[in-house]
Amino acid sequence: MRTEILPANEAALERAAQIIRSAGVVAFPTETVYGLGANALNDQAVRKIFHAKERPLDDPLIVHIAHTQQLTLVACHIPSRVWDLIERFWPGPLTLVLPKTERVPPVTTGGLETVAVRAPAHPVAKRLIELSGVPIAAPSANLFGRPSPTTAQHVWEDLNGRIELILDGGPTLIGVESTVVDMTQDPPVVLRPGGVTLEELRDVLGEVRLLSPSDREAARRSPGTRWRHYAPRAKLLIVEPGQAESVAGSLVAQGHRVGVVLQKSEVRGQQSGVRDQRSELIVELMPSDVQSYARRLFAVLRELDARGVEVIVVEKIAERGLGRAIMDRLRRASALPFDNSPSPQ
Ligand code: TXA
Ligand code: MG
Repeated sequence: MRTEILPANEAALERAAQIIRSAGVVAFPTETVYGLGANALNDQAVRKIFHAKERPLDDPLIVHIAHTQQLTLVACHIPSRVWDLIERFWPGPLTLVLPKTERVPPVTTGGLETVAVRAPAHPVAKRLIELSGVPIAAPSANLFGRPSPTTAQHVWEDLNGRIELILDGGPTLIGVESTVVDMTQDPPVVLRPGGVTLEELRDVLGEVRLLSPSDREAARRSPGTRWRHYAPRAKLLIVEPGQAESVAGSLVAQGHRVGVVLQKSEVRGQQSGVRDQRSELIVELMPSDVQSYARRLFAVLRELDARGVEVIVVEKIAERGLGRAIMDRLRRASALPFDNSPSPQ
């Protein structure tokens, strides 16, 4: 199969919608990361997503809707505080886990009785759902376990030959995935930190629980959080602030090719992405504001892989606001959160 990348204009969107209506899959931009979409209500169509990504069938997908009115098609027993969240954060990077309706086939929810729903803010995503006339199930458009794609080129690197069409809407704005909140629990539980921060959620909901990545309950409630994820091919090491260069230095001395990821404020007089010929060291300077850091994160991991580093040393950042989502992705990329978890293929 030849994989085409088309600028996401109205003609390309029409074609993409046609593919969705005929039970095919299409990659498209959202404000968080690129998604790999299919008709969420069609069992056969949804299976194609799992196949293309090599994703285990028990890892449920997020269902994307164009308008709040589509919510009751896929979710039921909606608690009133959900409407408060919707009013504040939709369209946007917030995914709500709710009881599912009969319309949603088990394959979409990995066999769970709940469904994860979000209304994306990206105009291309929104238009695609409207033109398709159905809710679109879409995980991130990467191969299972790899860093999520924030450009059409990233999608192509992972899925070339496996899907028909990639809609190119440029680099994504947020760069990390949506926040997933289980609204069937009281208090609600954040299953995955993301584009909407815990602070913002607490502002609306009051009490919210955050599961730590090592919490076994997290694995049970959100199957997708079980495996090593978002991972570059290189080994990823997380170190304390200020320690990356010395850790990297000793790795280089042992003969390794090393990438270092630091926030800009930490170093002086160094240029990003420049490889010191003598030392086999590539330093990636990340922006000091956390929004820009998030936007660059997955692209930097992919770039360092492409440059053949064996180890990536990343300095911890503060776990507040978007920093929580960034640290979550780094931890999951660095190791298996559970010793008995299978590795992604
Ligand atoms: O920003 C995003 O959320 C992107 C874009 C494309 O919308 N999508 C995305 O999908 O990140 P994915 O499949 O990579 O991650 C979906 C997460 C997984 O951790 C999965 O376990 C969780 O949502 N999830 C989906 N349905 C669930 C459910 N019914 N109950 C609990 N967790 C669920
Ligand atoms: Mg994903």
